[in-house]
Amino acid sequence: MKVIKNVAQMQKIASSHLKSGDEIGLVPTMGALHEGHISLISQSEKNNDITIVSIFVNPIQFGPNEDYLKYPRPILKDIEICRKNHVDYIFMPLVENMFPANYETFIEVKTLQDILCGLFRTNHFAGVATVVAKLFNISCAERAYFGIKDFQQLKIIEKLIKDLNFRTKIVPCSIVRERSGLAISSRNSYLSVEEKNISGNIYKILKEAAEDFKTKDLNVVKRDAVNKFKKIPVSKIDYTEIVNFYDLSPADKNTKKAVFTVAVWIGKTRLIDNTVMTKQSKL
Ligand SMILES: Nc1ncnc2c1ncn2[C@@H]1O[C@H](COP(=O)(O)OP(=O)(O)OP(=O)(O)O)[C@@H](O)[C@H]1O
Ligand SMILES: [Mg+2]
Repeated sequence: MKVIKNVAQMQKIASSHLKSGDEIGLVPTMGALHEGHISLISQSEKNNDITIVSIFVNPIQFGPNEDYLKYPRPILKDIEICRKNHVDYIFMPLVENMFPANYETFIEVKTLQDILCGLFRTNHFAGVATVVAKLFNISCAERAYFGIKDFQQLKIIEKLIKDLNFRTKIVPCSIVRERSGLAISSRNSYLSVEEKNISGNIYKILKEAAEDFKTKDLNVVKRDAVNKFKKIPVSKIDYTEIVNFYDLSPADKNTKKAVFTVAVWIGKTRLIDNTVMTKQSKL
């Protein structure tokens, strides 16, 4: 396994693999690697000759009052996890190398970036789209692995690929959860033991809502879920929305496949989660 810190060097290595016929899988991460990331890495290894894991805490996707500086950066532990999981290259660039002082180009995916999390995290998805586009070009990836936990991000990257004709194909990966149901996330390390116990209820509520969605009215499903979230208790709800699976537009009574997507605060930690919901088929 090689750790590459330089953008030009990574691109050179990746293009030479491409020329010799290797297929490259890219797993973009912000580090503090966990079982969720490892499942993405394993899938990439199954489908590709070479796996590149990028570890980059991307400053342009953090808002001014967010946790960029205190975001966990256990670099040595991350390198060890990658080594154990047979990663070929870790790409770990410096911020100045990815975004030099004269950097000026940003990608916006209109509509999708301004709803749900976008309403609460201004410029977040432009930051994500921009860095991911750069990573696609640097890594020459045939496939890139993204978690369904970040469902809106996944949809935005799919749209970016379609609109800008990137050759990289997205592989959506299912959500890895703790035994309690809590979606594993790097920021879970901010939670106290008590907050972690509370957080296990998020997925329970989502699953019950998915069951209710089969037969009940949309607004009832949402209202019941919101009441349950308040009881957990969450400290704040950013949103609890039932949206169309395909384009994230608000679901209505005719929507057959939906996603219940939520962002709630447990103490001072913001957690996101979602579950796919389908209507009961009429026999
Ligand atoms: N529990 C999980 N199951 C599957 N994929 C996941 C999981 N957690 C993160 N991922 C995916 O890993 C990729 C990198 O995510 P990232 O490094 O931001 O980790 P994270 O756990 O989401 O961190 P944070 O807590 O800061 O949001 C994304 O595609 C994300 O969807
Ligand atoms: Mg994340």
